[in-house]
Amino acid sequence: MNSLDDFAARKLAALDRGALRRTLVETARGALYVERNGRRLLSFSCNDYLNLSQHPEIKAAAVAATERYGVGSGASRLVTGNHPLYAALEARLARLKGTEAACVFGSGFLANTGIIPALIGPDDLVVLDELAHACLWAGARLSRAAALAFRHNDVGHAEELLRAHRARHPRALIATDGVFSMDGDLAPLIALGALARRYDAWLLADDAHGIGIIGGGRGSTFAGATPADVPLQMGTLSKAIGAYGGYLCASQPVVALMHNRARTLIYSTGLPPATVAAAIAALDLIARDPAYAARPLAKARAFARRAGLPEPQSPIVPIILGTAQAALAASRRLEDAGFLAVAIRPPTVPEGTARLRLAFTAAHPDDAIERLADLVRERVPA
Ligand SMILES: Cc1ncc(COP(=O)(O)O)c(C=O)c1O
Repeated sequence: MNSLDDFAARKLAALDRGALRRTLVETARGALYVERNGRRLLSFSCNDYLNLSQHPEIKAAAVAATERYGVGSGASRLVTGNHPLYAALEARLARLKGTEAACVFGSGFLANTGIIPALIGPDDLVVLDELAHACLWAGARLSRAAALAFRHNDVGHAEELLRAHRARHPRALIATDGVFSMDGDLAPLIALGALARRYDAWLLADDAHGIGIIGGGRGSTFAGATPADVPLQMGTLSKAIGAYGGYLCASQPVVALMHNRARTLIYSTGLPPATVAAAIAALDLIARDPAYAARPLAKARAFARRAGLPEPQSPIVPIILGTAQAALAASRRLEDAGFLAVAIRPPTVPEGTARLRLAFTAAHPDDAIERLADLVRERVPA
């Protein structure tokens, strides 16, 4: 074996030993059910919280955009890829989030890895929640700023770090998920916003799992009685919005700076017109029926009550099992009963906290939720 293949094979063998090796499983998705390994399973592992990826009106919008503008966008947005649908999408996003402007990126991952290095550099400081999504950490590392982790949702610890380090850096950023992707809890954005103001730091909240479902569909910044002060509201169009792409909602100058400095925007091709049209149609649907946005959380709460689990704050319900083997075994037991709940293992979650991560959607049938809850209460872990 040559050294490259030998390297890969040894890495994979180590993953196998820890039950941490991942494989791609072919999955044909419908609105609720998936076909996988020759079986039809009711999925609790899709982030399509409003089931919009399969909505006829949204599919029709995507088809119409392809007919009108073609399949690909042909170039970076800064060159010729800025097709007319972008302006309509960005106007809707800015309106939803209450900001002056918005900037759409190729994905949520590309957004965070573009936004952070456009704002801070090697002399600066970034303070992140220890459970912040991998792409916030990737953006922080790309910026080469000093990156410090505060304990999960611990505003006091974030303040300690700022008190000790802020004065040595010209600029500082606080970065957190708004809804934590693997735990489903919400960040204390009101307290973090106030902290950021006290230390002249800029707050970036990643609302990938909040837009469309939390705060009447406006996202986690709007989860409380009054909106949090979050000047950098980032998120993705790939989950509740049912399409693809990332965004930043912010002031006019910040968005104009992204057009000039965010390398993942400048040096990457614009989104396909169909994807942008789908996101516009989804946002229109959400705006027309804000009550629909509340359904995934209501379903998650009904499940948790019956399963004897703590009340969730979002449609994400973790069932922490500890070892990777335990999480895989629990996932198999649910699969035998017709449910898809993919095991989430390190390094996606911290060592010793492998879990099932259940994601509830607006259309999950109540009787299936009850069956799943009974199974979880009685048989997970077995
Ligand atoms: C919290 C969070 N941020 C960002 C992303 C990345 O978004 P995208 O899938 O659009 O790249 C994800 C998941 O994919 C996420 O869970």
